[in-house]
Amino acid sequence: MGKTKINFPNYASEMIQILKEGRVLLVGQGKDGKPNPMTIAWGAMMFAWNKPVFVAMVRNSRYTYKLMEESNTFTINFLGKEYHKELSLCGTKSGFNVDKWKETKLTPVNAKTVETKIIEEAFLNIECKVIFTNDMNYEDLNKTIIEQHYQKHISGKTSHKFYYGEILEMYGDTTKIKKT
Ligand SMILES: Cc1cc2nc3c(=O)[nH]c(=O)nc-3n(C[C@H](O)[C@H](O)[C@H](O)COP(=O)(O)O)c2cc1C
Repeated sequence: MGKTKINFPNYASEMIQILKEGRVLLVGQGKDGKPNPMTIAWGAMMFAWNKPVFVAMVRNSRYTYKLMEESNTFTINFLGKEYHKELSLCGTKSGFNVDKWKETKLTPVNAKTVETKIIEEAFLNIECKVIFTNDMNYEDLNKTIIEQHYQKHISGKTSHKFYYGEILEMYGDTTKIKKT
């Protein structure tokens, strides 16, 4: 079966499960027009301002952060378990140093509504336009979470920024959502 339109919030819990498993790539694309894939596992799907929204959390030390700051769109791409190696590479190597498309052989292709590319090999794609952002302030964050996830980063002032992307298009091969 090919990719068909998915209406929010259908399959949202399955998508969060796949996100949790680290099988999602966020593609960012900056001023130079070159896309870059980064593995993500933290995020949310929500309904806000009467819109379906995907929230991505990007640490400000990432190459992806630079791209997100230069653009107002991003895409979210769900991959099957067979792409374990590619997901691992995109979650450990940085676009500052390597061309992840060359290293993985994943294919960036045109999206329907946004400039930022989607990934052809993904069985499900989401196209997003950023409508709100906020920086994570340490003063507002639970202390145990700071100790667990940010202790060594506080001095370097790195933290996550939340990007709220209105879901403009969502499509996929729904037969693969549960099987992968
Ligand atoms: C399973 C997994 C999940 C990850 N989730 C996130 C995430 O949600 N946000 C984030 O900023 N980095 C996350 N990372 C780390 C980035 O993927 C990693 O630092 C990557 O090399 C950054 O690439 P870039 O510099 O090209 O943006 C994750 C890594 C892995 C392996």
